[in-house]
Amino acid sequence: MIIKVCTWRSCTENGSEYIATRLERDIAFYNIHDMAVERCTCQGRCKEGPVVVYDRDIQTRMNPVKASELMRKKVEMIKNQLKARQKNEVVTPENKD
Ligand code: FES
Repeated sequence: MIIKVCTWRSCTENGSEYIATRLERDIAFYNIHDMAVERCTCQGRCKEGPVVVYDRDIQTRMNPVKASELMRKKVEMIKNQLKARQKNEVVTPENKD
């Protein structure tokens, strides 16, 4: 998953760089694989910034704590989906063995 943090003028003035740094530190601290922070251009929601985009989920009025909590929720959701998929995996003649 790529987490995009808008670091253009309006969002930066409202602390988006702190959000990006917090998320990068969380990813490293929790040793989360397949997740990265990308600083991006204006997302067209300057008045509602800072803006963070988790995949295609646009979140506005973010701060480092909210961004971090939402990232951890997304990680848990992905883990649960993977577990559910593994449990519900149907055995067919093609994937048997
Ligand atoms: S500057 Fe961040 S949405 Fe426009």
